Amino acid sequence: MDFLDNLVIPATTQHLNLLKVILVLSMLIFLPFFGMIFGGTAFSMIFNAYGRKNKNKLFIRFAKDIIDKLAINRFVGVGLGVIPLLAITFCYAQLMFEVKVISVSLLFVATLFMALAVNFVYSFQNTFQIELLIETFKNITGLDKHELETKIPEDISDYEFDLKNTNSNSGLYGFVLLLLTAIFFAGGTSIALFSDRYQDFQNIAQMFLSGATLLNFLFIVVLSITVTGSAILFFFFSWQGGLYDMDAEYSNFVKKIGGNIAFTGAAILPIFLFLSFIMMPNVSLSGSVFMYTGLAFVSILILCNFLYAVIKNSDMKYIGAAFYLLILSCGFIIMKNQAAFGTASYKHLAEINLKAEELEKEKKGKTVNTAGVNGEEIFTRICSACHKFDVKLVGPPYNQTIPTFNGDVKKLSAWIQNPTKVFPDYPAMPNPGLKPKEADAVAQYLIEKVSGKK
Ligand code: HEC
Repeated sequence: MDFLDNLVIPATTQHLNLLKVILVLSMLIFLPFFGMIFGGTAFSMIFNAYGRKNKNKLFIRFAKDIIDKLAINRFVGVGLGVIPLLAITFCYAQLMFEVKVISVSLLFVATLFMALAVNFVYSFQNTFQIELLIETFKNITGLDKHELETKIPEDISDYEFDLKNTNSNSGLYGFVLLLLTAIFFAGGTSIALFSDRYQDFQNIAQMFLSGATLLNFLFIVVLSITVTGSAILFFFFSWQGGLYDMDAEYSNFVKKIGGNIAFTGAAILPIFLFLSFIMMPNVSLSGSVFMYTGLAFVSILILCNFLYAVIKNSDMKYIGAAFYLLILSCGFIIMKNQAAFGTASYKHLAEINLKAEELEKEKKGKTVNTAGVNGEEIFTRICSACHKFDVKLVGPPYNQTIPTFNGDVKKLSAWIQNPTKVFPDYPAMPNPGLKPKEADAVAQYLIEKVSGKK
């Protein structure tokens, strides 16, 4: 996306390192939360639809609790979902400065989808609460079913009807948008690794031809399932003492479903970790990629153990540990991806760095420290005897000569300190005998004056 390229300037080595740290931190916030909101919306939507179809109160309650606990609230959605993804996009835009490939555009589109998704997800969450509110008020009235149907004003029952539609629609839209976010995010980050094949990825449609994108998308799906299952167990049973109003039936139901979701995800995850490792292009492989993949592998296996204990003995003791271990695994996976990206973009980053240094040098050449010396005063006292800006005096007019120095203060100052013969139709200029700082000051004054800055 060209406008993104216009927003960023090449970064120096220190800046690049800082960017990498910001990138890893943003990923560490984004990925687990995305897993929670993506999987949470999906499971909540499924249990909601099934529960409503079969009039199963337990399922509907589960659907409501999942989206309540996992998506938390709108501020969290923006803070842990949209903003980190935006930060990730800008980091990539910086790190892939002037690279002609679709990665950054894909991430940018992913961010837009995410921002839209958040809106639908929280209105989905909201409808459950309003429904519950209406339900509670109905119960308070003490009216029976028939009375309720006849006595409730029409606009309220209309509203209730709309609410049901909003509920199922916004859940679905939110889910589809999150799905798109996942696809574009997977595309942007995987294609960035193929630094030897960037010319193959020039328009968005080409993303779908990339096997790595598809695999990484599936990886995100499986990771989201694992995160969601673990988060259900964690937020229902461990975090701040868990949900307080669960009866035994509901609690067993949640344990069983949450445990199975988490364990299934965690058991499949190593396979995808392995496959995505195999799919990595050679240009991105390095020792640290191997190391982090290994660490992720081990921590996921331990996670499987914990989760197995949970479903086997319905032992909730390890739930906190399992959840934190999962976050740690996410950390290793992210480090692996970033190490791979670092290797793949190594050459390009060196180029950016060179450019940045040149830019810096150029800037330095044009600015000098002239504190305490007045360039204008020197000009009036010494130079104006022989120079004017617009007409020839003893020396040539500045408006003609100064622009040939291209704004380079250092170069002009050097010439003033040691004038050499230039024009055949002028005599040589006597050395005005200025100190370096004075020469700098008058040079800067003349350059600014001629370019119209003063
Ligand atoms: C005694 C007269 C005299 C004074 C004083 C003088 N100049 Fe010059 N200046 C000249 C002449 C003559 C030339 C043409 C030199 C040549 O063609 O070799 C010239 C040329 C220049 C040029 C053109 C150089 C180029 O390469 O195009 C600059 C810039 C310049 N002077 C700056 C200054 C500044 C700044 C001062 C005051 C610190 C100054 N001059 C003082 C006579 C003077």
